[in-house]
Order: sequence, then structure tokens, then C-alpha cells
Amino acid sequence: MKVLVATEKTFAKVAVDGIREVIEQAGYELALLEKYTDKQQLLDAVADADALIIRSDIVDSEVLNAAKQLKIVVRAGAGYDNIDLAAATAHKVVAMNTPGQNSNAVAELALGLMVYAVRNLYNGTSGTELKGKKLGIHAFGNVGRNVARIAQGFGMEVYAYDAYCPDEAMLAANVKPVHSAEELYKICDIVSLHIPATPETKNSINHDLVGLLPKGGILVNTARKEVIDEDGLISLMLERTDLKYMTDIMPAADAKFRELFAGRYFATPKKMGAQTAEANINAGIAAARQIVDFIENGVTKFQVNK
Ligand code: 3PG
Repeated sequence: MKVLVATEKTFAKVAVDGIREVIEQAGYELALLEKYTDKQQLLDAVADADALIIRSDIVDSEVLNAAKQLKIVVRAGAGYDNIDLAAATAHKVVAMNTPGQNSNAVAELALGLMVYAVRNLYNGTSGTELKGKKLGIHAFGNVGRNVARIAQGFGMEVYAYDAYCPDEAMLAANVKPVHSAEELYKICDIVSLHIPATPETKNSINHDLVGLLPKGGILVNTARKEVIDEDGLISLMLERTDLKYMTDIMPAADAKFRELFAGRYFATPKKMGAQTAEANINAGIAAARQIVDFIENGVTKFQVNK
């Protein structure tokens, strides 16, 4: 049984060691394809793989066609918009994610981006504090919950909107539920995005919605770039010179954002919310264990292409 770990953005070495231990203990073989620069390298490497561990690496029908022996692909992380689920199902390949395993890391980065924003990108001028500010969490999943917990430590007043999460779950976390995205953006000084990229959410963070933020509002994105209507956000930030956009996912129009919004726009050069040793260990080892559990016992608990 051959398990391929294919990561264009590598795991910490300690996580790869942990994955190897789980795979080899099961009597399987581990193959590594790291920092690949060409899709052909992935197509070649998957040819004889029975199982595949990926991060944001694209698994489309071309990859699935090349992976003649593949039984399972596990996205070591939360968002699985990089896997063509219908194609996986058509190829009889089980697709899974590892929900929650890297969420603290992403949440810590979201708070880091907030501090960076309110301290004027550390430019030496007098900024403001997070304490007492209203934070809006847009989608209250694993990352959103961790953001709430950490933000409360900063003394923020935390609100959340999530159409799929009952009020009780928010109230239990001392978070104030609101019942529309519009309400959240109207109330909160800072909104942190934690929605997945789906056909419904694509371009949904647009001019009119973000324009509801009060004066000095900040939008923080550690989710996906596809959820942002970039043209809409650019035209809004031209009109509203008080708004800031901080993102861990570089927009397609990064050069334009940088040119137009110096001092109120920041993007990490490479998505790094989940780039911690801890998150890599948690997600990577969970992925390896899920593969062994599936191959040995048929466990499909985290399957996402049912
Ligand atoms: C996720 O969906 O788990 C995060 O976006 C992390 O993605 P990454 O593994 O590419 O860093």
C-alpha cells in the first residue's frame, strides 16, 4: 500500500516524521512529493499511489485519471474546494478532510492580522487597541470558535453570523448571535471571514456588504480569496478611505490593492494560516490515521464526497 504525501507548500519536518511513523507502522510505504513546481510531477507521482495526502494541492479529474490505483485522498486541513468531489466519486475515490486540526493556527493568525491592522501596520504611528472593539465572526465553525475564544482574551465583544449554526452554540461560547450577514457588518468594527469557498459564497463579500462596516472598519480574510468580489472591494475602498483589508490569501488583483491602498491593505505572500508545526502535526497525522482506518476498517467518518 503506497501513500503519497504531495504538498506544494511543505509540512514541517516533524509532521512528515509523524506521518511516516503512522504509515510505516501500518506496514505501508510513504512517498513524498514536496515543493513541486509542475503539475506533471504530481501526475507522475500519483500513478502508483493507493492513498494521497494533500494540502491546498489541486486534485482534479486529470490527477484522478493519472491515479489508477487511488482509493482515498485526504486533504490535511479544513477546506476541500481544491478537490473535484464529483470526479473523485466518479473514480470511486473517497475524499476526506481533517476538520478542526489546524483551526487554532488559523485563528491565531486572524488575531495577528487584527493587531497589525489596528497598529497601522507597525508604521510607528499611534494606533488603537482590540480591547472593547466589536468583532464579527462570519461563520462559526472550528476556526470561528477559536477566533472567538482568543478575541475574548483580548477583551473584544464578539458577535457571529452563521446560517447553519444554532444560537445556543454561540451563546454557550459567550458570543452574540446575529441573524444576517448585513446585521453583522453593520454592528462590528472588525469582521473576520471563516466561510468556505462554495458556489453560494463565491464573490459574496462584496461592495454593499463590506460597505456596511462602520467608520474605520477592518475586513480580515483567513478563509479563501474566491469569496471576495475583488472589483467591488476595490471600488468600495476607493470611496471609503477609512477601511482596511487584511488577508492571508493574496487577491488576484494584489498589485492593484498594493498600489491603491498602501497602509490599509496587507496580504501574506503565501497562505500561512495553517503553517505551524502544531497544525501540520495535527492535520498530517490525522490524515495518515484516517487513511489507515479507512484501508483497514472501512471507516469513512470524515468523507466529504458521499
Ligand atoms: C485549510 O483549509 O485547512 C486552510 O486553508 C489551510 O490550507 P493549507 O494547508 O494550504 O495551508
